[in-house]
Amino acid sequence: MRESSVIATRLLGWYDRHARKLPWRVPPGAGRGDPYRVWLSEIMLQQTTVAAVKSYFERFTTLWPTVEDLARADDAQVMAEWAGLGYYARARNLVACARQVAAQGGFPTTREGLAGLPGVGPYTSAAIAAIAHDAPETVVDGNVERVTARLFAVETPMPAAKPVLRDLAATLTPQKRPGDFAQAAMDLGATICTPRSPACTICPLTDDCDARARGIAADLPRKSPKKPKPERRGIAWVGLTNSAVLVEERAPKGLLGGTLAFPSTGWDGSDLPPPAPADWRQVGAVRRIFTHFALELTVMAAPLRRQRRAAGCPLDEFDPEALPGLMRKVWSLACPADPTATSPARSLT
Ligand code: ADE
Repeated sequence: MRESSVIATRLLGWYDRHARKLPWRVPPGAGRGDPYRVWLSEIMLQQTTVAAVKSYFERFTTLWPTVEDLARADDAQVMAEWAGLGYYARARNLVACARQVAAQGGFPTTREGLAGLPGVGPYTSAAIAAIAHDAPETVVDGNVERVTARLFAVETPMPAAKPVLRDLAATLTPQKRPGDFAQAAMDLGATICTPRSPACTICPLTDDCDARARGIAADLPRKSPKKPKPERRGIAWVGLTNSAVLVEERAPKGLLGGTLAFPSTGWDGSDLPPPAPADWRQVGAVRRIFTHFALELTVMAAPLRRQRRAAGCPLDEFDPEALPGLMRKVWSLACPADPTATSPARSLT
């Protein structure tokens, strides 16, 4: 019979030799991580890959080395630094959470206490409690679900299998080094027990794995057939004068809330007129898949004769890097050459 303590020991031994070196991590066996760095990394890693997060993490911790520094940060600067990471509600919650933590003199040390913070859900509170406070919490992300489904050969399709996988993962969590164990399971899922072609021959748990024994490792976890996402359409307008570009801040709540954007129609089919009368020309379309729908934005561009008073951003202050990814795509369609370098309006004519 499979012994859970044997599995934990094997996985921790593998982690001691093969842990990925990540900027927010303390080396295996070196104890607890700094709660601020653990929290920041876990928020960034929600819905985003390790590779994409690394440079953002380095930049944030250089600009704001402590939670108190981040608590004092300017909201607009945090949003601009977050641009490109996606799921912008996370950035707004990040600042709210930093302020709450700074006001209460530090991060709570229990999963329950952490779960009361803005933007910190069941996964993140367990991860911070385990990694930063060595609490024996079970940390279940997509990687851990896959590893667990294979170890126990769970054939129930996702997402129905989630609670089953959670309970099974909990049977493996050790009392000693739970933070290292959580990260070891994530690393195993990311590097060996990968979705399509798991490297079972070099897996430290190969002798413990029921799916491997039955030859079905690569097929698990099974998935229920996906419903196609509804399609939505809209129009985005890129208007440039010689010295300014038309941009606006999106409403704080809702999709890409609080981010810098080109004026557009509603993304629910609702109509809006162009932001200024001009010779608008269609330059292409961009697509983006959101959680609940797919969006296609037709991109219109035009040189504008006069700068509109309220909405123009001076071109010498305009940084396309501060736009969310969707709007960056809109910008690069409208202005394939960098118009901030030369005559902007001309590139649209
Ligand atoms: N994904 C989410 N949290 C992680 C962590 N601490 N290490 C590696 N991958 C992760």
